[in-house]
Amino acid sequence: MERRRFGPTKRDVPVIGQGTWCLERTDRATSIAALRLGLDLGMTHVDTAEMYGSGAVEGLVGEAIAGRRDEVFVVSKVLPEHASRSGTIAACEASLARLETEWIDCYLLHWRGEYPLEETIAAFEQLQREGKIRSWGVSNFDVPDLEETWKIAGAGRLVCNQVLYHLEERAIEHAVLPWCENHGVAVVGYAPFGHGRFPGPRTAGGRVLQEIAAAHRATPRQVALRFLVRRPALFTIPKAARPEHAAENAGAGDLQLTEAEVACIHEAFPPGPPPRELPVL
Ligand SMILES: NC(=O)c1ccc[n+]([C@@H]2O[C@H](COP(=O)([O-])OP(=O)(O)OC[C@H]3O[C@@H](n4cnc5c(N)ncnc54)[C@H](OP(=O)(O)O)[C@@H]3O)[C@@H](O)[C@H]2O)c1
Repeated sequence: MERRRFGPTKRDVPVIGQGTWCLERTDRATSIAALRLGLDLGMTHVDTAEMYGSGAVEGLVGEAIAGRRDEVFVVSKVLPEHASRSGTIAACEASLARLETEWIDCYLLHWRGEYPLEETIAAFEQLQREGKIRSWGVSNFDVPDLEETWKIAGAGRLVCNQVLYHLEERAIEHAVLPWCENHGVAVVGYAPFGHGRFPGPRTAGGRVLQEIAAAHRATPRQVALRFLVRRPALFTIPKAARPEHAAENAGAGDLQLTEAEVACIHEAFPPGPPPRELPVL
């Protein structure tokens, strides 16, 4: 499994990690087996959130990582409605208890809400000083939000931005990804399979993926995952409740695509025009 530096941290993190949204909907033993197999195969970046299953998923992750905490890079997220200065501290402590761990490797604001960013960032900094989190980041942030975060926190504090990124949703490539690359911030793409809506074999794009996959004795999903981490700032976190899915996803960890193959995928799934700025009324 290829690993790379995670933003300004001194940690090398696998390019393919594991998502956990909706994991509580699958039989508990199967979900835990899938996560553990994923860890065995090098997918040690595990992404969760207080929101998932209203805390139930953090409990499940805690069970899956028990006895092997040091090898795992645990990410969790505070909900915007909890992201006041004191609310963030309380939410983090509750997550730590459910995860049965003393620290979270990277703690994120799930999306921007009503609380001033200054408050959330002050709480993140306090949690980091206290050793309860090792780094912090954001999720679903656009460039103006990133600029504001950078201005409040100072250089090198913001570690990652976790954003929607799959073959049919490449909007981040216009501005968010370049901004993060220029500032040394990791970009973690979520929903790499479109939250279960992956291009089928009868679509034009699906056929392109199949051809490339056949050349590598790989699968279309493995080709997609590798395309989604083709730039050094990128990471991806597919969710798999089934062990066989986890095994397939981990198989993308060492796949290498040629420049020509990357160009073919780019043509088959064009990024589309940049999102239009809303007119000022
Ligand atoms: N920050 C945010 O706002 C945000 C938003 C959305 C997601 N996320 C994170 O990103 C993670 C991934 O996104 P997601 O869960 O929305 O969607 P996803 O990873 O794009 O898709 C998950 C679906 O794909 C299936 N799947 C996984 N591997 C497969 C394989 N090899 N073959 C066939 N099917 C496969 C899963 O099935 P099984 O589960 O049955 O194996 C599940 O139905 C989330 O779990 C969460 O951790 C973050």
